[in-house]
Amino acid sequence: MSSIFLPDRTPLRPDFWREIFGNDRPVAVEIGPGLGEFLEAIARHKPDWNYFAIERAQTRTRSVQEKIDKHHLDNARALCAEAQFVLALLPDACVDRFYIQFPDPWWKRRHHRRRLMTPEFAAELARTLRPGCEIEFVSDVKEYFDLAFAALEAQPVLEHIPTDPQLLTATSFSRKAAVRGWELSASIHRKRNC
Ligand SMILES: C[S@@+](CC[C@H](N)C(=O)[O-])C[C@H]1O[C@@H](n2cnc3c(N)ncnc32)[C@H](O)[C@@H]1O
Repeated sequence: MSSIFLPDRTPLRPDFWREIFGNDRPVAVEIGPGLGEFLEAIARHKPDWNYFAIERAQTRTRSVQEKIDKHHLDNARALCAEAQFVLALLPDACVDRFYIQFPDPWWKRRHHRRRLMTPEFAAELARTLRPGCEIEFVSDVKEYFDLAFAALEAQPVLEHIPTDPQLLTATSFSRKAAVRGWELSASIHRKRNC
């Protein structure tokens, strides 16, 4: 599997996905896939979609890539990068679904600024999502979930779609949370057709 290079801060062209995947299938972006269990499962289950995982940790990106290679997942790619950096390069309205599952909570107050889901990041999600498409967000930290939810709600182009967290896709963190009896909070936001 060839690597993906984002050489500089030049915005990506709208045909970026076709160059990467070699087709025009819908593209789902998973942010922070961890070891890639979810990516593997969904890419196998839905071969008519493309899956693009952005993971900041090199060792985890390697694990994701190993799963992609092992199962010959032609519809999945993994990129080691900061999601904020990558999203800033994407054209408007080019992603068909976002998955953000169990982002690091950064418990200490002085570390909160490292959290992924900020008002600025919610704005980037809203900008890069295609109209009619959705952002799936799951967390086991209620206080972080509430802040992220408020950031998504503050985007006028997004509307909340009620959902049952138990119906959302399982990841290693969701299994851990279930074993420990932690409550999950989940939301789906859809971009309005403007
Ligand atoms: C708590 S783990 C959850 C992993 C997986 N989603 C799951 O549910 O099992 C959070 C993951 O997000 C990654 N991550 C955190 N901040 C990120 C960022 N800014 N860009 C890309 N990945 C990030 C971490 O390296 C880690 O692998």
